Amino acid sequence: MDTDTTALFAPSIINGHTAKNRLSVAPMTRISATEDGRATERMTRYYERFARGGFGTVITEGIYTDQAFAQGYVHQPGMTDEVQANSWKPVVSALKAHGTLAIAQLMHAGAISQGNRFRDGTVGPSSIQPKGEQMAFYHGKDRYGLPSAMTEAQIADAISGFAESAGRATEIAGFDAIEIHGANGYLLDQFLTDYANTRTDHWGGTTENRVRLIVETLKAVRARVGARVPVGVRLSQGKVNDYHHKWAAAERDAEIIFGSLADAGVDFIHVTEFEAWRPAFVADGPSLMRLAKQHAPRAAILANGSLHDIARATAALNDGADIVTIGRGALANPDLPRRLADCAALDTFDPAILGPIADVKETELAM
Ligand SMILES: Cc1cc2nc3c(=O)[nH]c(=O)nc-3n(C[C@H](O)[C@H](O)[C@H](O)COP(=O)(O)O)c2cc1C
Repeated sequence: MDTDTTALFAPSIINGHTAKNRLSVAPMTRISATEDGRATERMTRYYERFARGGFGTVITEGIYTDQAFAQGYVHQPGMTDEVQANSWKPVVSALKAHGTLAIAQLMHAGAISQGNRFRDGTVGPSSIQPKGEQMAFYHGKDRYGLPSAMTEAQIADAISGFAESAGRATEIAGFDAIEIHGANGYLLDQFLTDYANTRTDHWGGTTENRVRLIVETLKAVRARVGARVPVGVRLSQGKVNDYHHKWAAAERDAEIIFGSLADAGVDFIHVTEFEAWRPAFVADGPSLMRLAKQHAPRAAILANGSLHDIARATAALNDGADIVTIGRGALANPDLPRRLADCAALDTFDPAILGPIADVKETELAM
């Protein structure tokens, strides 16, 4: 490999917590928890491999936040009570034993939930049929159900689900930091998305109103976990059910969205695009990571999207990113940082790992 990867191995500090290098595992749902949402021994072995392989940070898969409408998938892990929180302790200890920063991603599936043992129906900002189809590798089939528009009380419950889960994740499970999943088409992103949110109250309409739920969730999580715990938000334009969506007001939206998070004291912003280095809106314009850094200069910027291309990952550090997060490339190379340090070749991702169902396979752990 010709790329000088030295810069990827410099430490990075997020709100006083040190990531020993700039390489993080991206959050990836693997539906390998027990049916009642507890993390398992297999998950501990799965996550530990990334830490042993040298990743400075691991962000967990999306963990559901309440016992109402948050759960998205059968066998998804939760953080909704002490039993679920305790089940994460071995995962966190395994990560920390290797000096790896452990970030819990908290998620509410909203209108694109396709498996929830607590409720039959789904909720979203408005009663609008979601685009796309359920994901087969998470046991989905057909179209998404028609959601009910959330009431004010349901919105308050969803916010407090995030806050209480963040408290359990840090105080019981021992996670170092919290990532609020505001991306990829899940509840918080549904509120942000013009066509999914047609509300006429203060949660809908202008971009400032549509980003309000993300901001209020961030504030509630911060109030619950205190000033010292790093709290971040993941954002994207594309969605699991609409890959090509773009923010309608382009750079002006980016300014409002990133700026609102900065004003609310976000410690890190995790942006994801299909290819992180591409202009976010128009040819030759800035990337989303560059815009995040521009409008939230005090936040650490985590960048995601096809950055297993290591030359691109290194270049991202000069385009606004502080840390790069790697998804498919980490599944193919759980020891990716060690390989880079040893100048060893990387394996190509084989989608068969995720088929027919995306659960963690024993064969994968033996790799
Ligand atoms: C199997 C799988 C599961 C995923 N689950 C999540 C998730 O739970 N939360 C999330 O924010 N992103 C999730 N993603 C998206 C990844 O974090 C990442 O954005 C995507 O894989 C693109 O990055 P890459 O090019 O490095 O693979 C998932 C991706 C894959 C492949």
